[in-house]
Amino acid sequence: MKQETLTITDNRTGQSYVVPVERGTIRAMDLRQIKASAGDFGLMTYDPAFLNTASCRSSVTFIDGERGILRYRGYPIEALAEHCTFLEVAYLLLFGELPEERQLENWVSEITHHTMLHENTKKFMEGFRHDAHPMGMLVSTVAALSTIYPEAKAIHDADNRLLQIKRLIGKVPSIAAMSYRHSLGFPYVYPDNDLSYAENFLNMLWKMVEPKYVANPVLARALDILFILHADHEQNCSTNTMRSVGSAQTDPYLATAAAAAALAGPLHGGANEQVLTMLDEIGSKDNVPAYVKKIKEGHGKLMGFGHRVYKNYDPRAKIIKWTAEQVFEVTGRNRKLDTALELERIALQDDYFVTRKLYPNVDFYSGIIYQAMGFSPEMFTVLFAIPRTTGWLAQWQEMLLDPEQKSARPRQVYTGEDTRQFVPIEQRVPAVVKT
Ligand code: CMC
Repeated sequence: MKQETLTITDNRTGQSYVVPVERGTIRAMDLRQIKASAGDFGLMTYDPAFLNTASCRSSVTFIDGERGILRYRGYPIEALAEHCTFLEVAYLLLFGELPEERQLENWVSEITHHTMLHENTKKFMEGFRHDAHPMGMLVSTVAALSTIYPEAKAIHDADNRLLQIKRLIGKVPSIAAMSYRHSLGFPYVYPDNDLSYAENFLNMLWKMVEPKYVANPVLARALDILFILHADHEQNCSTNTMRSVGSAQTDPYLATAAAAAALAGPLHGGANEQVLTMLDEIGSKDNVPAYVKKIKEGHGKLMGFGHRVYKNYDPRAKIIKWTAEQVFEVTGRNRKLDTALELERIALQDDYFVTRKLYPNVDFYSGIIYQAMGFSPEMFTVLFAIPRTTGWLAQWQEMLLDPEQKSARPRQVYTGEDTRQFVPIEQRVPAVVKT
């Protein structure tokens, strides 16, 4: 009979151990019993960057990277992008089920009524330099909300937790829009409760002196779809940060700020900004072969290509490509699309990219749409952070309610000096500093 166990033989001692296998994993703690001698600490695994370590059990998002599948709570991303609004998907991620009509109405109304920011936030944001990066402003201002809502520390109180979740989903777009207006030197725009989540965000970004901002419905829907696609992506770098910081029972504003800081990096959410820089550098379709050759020779990476989990076409990139066509009908074609399409065409038939299973990821086309919609590249990661806030919160709440989770604290393999004799300062030789 097939047994769900693993037998490990320690060749140092000749001893064998049987450990249970559950859902394709063994528990790392089961390895601790494997000792080379009585005083031995026990075996650990070494896995920098968690390449083969499940850090949690989660029922939020499913990815099959080999087959290019993404589902939120079991629903394929394609169906959600086609039929839902972002707030409907946010409800699904947080509560596990799609809302029926009445529940959705209440949910939308509650989020809408949490979009206003305390006036102090405005003053706080005015203190940033005129050319401050909007992502730096977003991270700092989300962290600053912790000082406005000190009761958020009561993370074990379910009602209180839900209130902070609604506040964050409501207020992050307002902060994002203010950070953009700040960089342009425009006055901040207050939220408009008559508008949908995406329309209101566009209103806070673009409204000038007109009494009422009316968003183009195609652009508002495209933005909503982009929000759906970016809402969660299981244990990526920023979500892992959210769980790790949150595991210390830090309040959700500080934990979200930490997650957003991780997102800002160019290998994560910052990649969409880098894609545009890269397309500018390439210049035109004709220069693509030479650029690809340079990458293959080891000069940099093709931004927006490759993924730690997807070894197939990122399903989000397919939907974004389709959405781009809708957007360009309104805005006119972004000529960078031609360079991007040529880059994709050449890369997907090049042995270097094929053998390494490097396909376009979510960031490859999103920046081109954002730019066509009028956003400058510095805003791209902020646009990613708005919907991902919901994913971070869903994962944070799941972590808090999981009885197996404790404060995150990895082990290390120490490679430094053994005990050294202390040397008084006057007897020391100049240190050779390693950096
Ligand atoms: N261009 C050229 N070569 C690449 C690329 C790329 N974009 N990505 C990976 N490789 C090569 C890499 O040099 C390595 O080659 P070799 O085996 O010869 O050393 C091989 O492919 C495996 O790469 P890796 O760095 O071990 O793969 P990883 O899983 O650690 O990296 C990644 C994943 C996303 C960090 C990486 O593909 C990358 O840096 N891509 C460009 C940045 C980017 O688009 N990031 C957005 C990721 S999706 C959205 C998000 O997570 O926020």
